Amino acid sequence: MPLTLWTDKYEVGVESLDADHIIIFSLINYIDEAIRLDASQKTIHRMLRVLILLAVEHFQREEILMNKNAYPDTKAHTAEHHKIVKKLQSLIEAYEKSPTANVSGEIINVLAAWMNGHVMETDMRYRPFLTGQEASPRDAASEQPQAEPEQPVGSGP
Ligand SMILES: [Fe+2]
Ligand SMILES: [Fe+2]
Repeated sequence: MPLTLWTDKYEVGVESLDADHIIIFSLINYIDEAIRLDASQKTIHRMLRVLILLAVEHFQREEILMNKNAYPDTKAHTAEHHKIVKKLQSLIEAYEKSPTANVSGEIINVLAAWMNGHVMETDMRYRPFLTGQEASPRDAASEQPQAEPEQPVGSGP
């Protein structure tokens, strides 16, 4: 049985962030399944590395939007992101050295807390501030001054 399926109750109202959450929830369930089915350490380790990459990218997307919308709790929220990444990184390192049931169990606990604690409570709090906004890695670039549009060919006098 899946750990936690993404359903509408997890919706934060920003399409790019909801899309990230759907993908992250799916991968977490996949990792949980792989651990329970006793997949190889190499396979599980690779999935965990992918999850960290997705998490870092997603957290940055949220932080860009919180800053852009002057969300008052940005600092504390960002600190929680750092805490999740740090904890996951140290558990992944521990798993790499010794893939015991204790370590994998702890990883699953952290992932479950991320979905049901961080997403459901901390992320949900920015919802009224961010609803309707979008963020992509291109946001930083799009805030640069735009170059003058070129004159269409043949439009001159
Ligand atoms: Fe999130
Ligand atoms: Fe978050």
